[in-house]
Amino acid sequence: MTKHSVSLHPDVEKVLIDSAALQARVRELGAEISRDYEGRVPILLGILKGSVIFLGDLLKSLSIDCWVDFIGVSSYGGGRHSTGEVRLLLDLRESAAGKDLILVEDIMDSGLTLHYLLDTLKARNPRSIEICTLLDKPKCRKIPIEAKYVGFKIPNEFVIGYGLDHQERYRNLPYVGVMKSGK
Ligand code: PRP
Repeated sequence: MTKHSVSLHPDVEKVLIDSAALQARVRELGAEISRDYEGRVPILLGILKGSVIFLGDLLKSLSIDCWVDFIGVSSYGGGRHSTGEVRLLLDLRESAAGKDLILVEDIMDSGLTLHYLLDTLKARNPRSIEICTLLDKPKCRKIPIEAKYVGFKIPNEFVIGYGLDHQERYRNLPYVGVMKSGK
């Protein structure tokens, strides 16, 4: 935490998870996924846009063969609260039929996004489908849904950085931070 205090973005109230802790936990998740999928070639399906940094780091920590694809959805419209309506913005390029899918998400909040994606993708008959989320806010759930792989459980605070945005800004911060209120 102190490591970033000098370069803390002025809109960030505090660092919740620093870069070293993120890297260490992502390496653990990569090792766990590599063990679980030994002998298979899963598709890591990055959910745009928030997952991109996490997905990049996770990929580097996998010791198994894998494919990468992307799916684009949005439910927040740039704001702090989910609109409740999930929109599919970009579909994956590969067929999901018969594949082992790992949905890679930056954060699970209400669960609406992943509920929608699970419904949509299960209809395409993948062999298996699991969720890997960097952050989980279990107290905010509106739909009961669980991820198999969770980086960190966090309290109900509005977080930015390491891929997560507010009105498209702050995705480039190397840490996960709590945004100052009123920003
Ligand atoms: C965010 C985040 C998740 C979703 C989680 O996406 O990346 O996909 O919200 O919230 P939920 O569990 O309440 O559905 P957002 O719609 O902000 O798009 P982005 O990833 O492009 O920033």
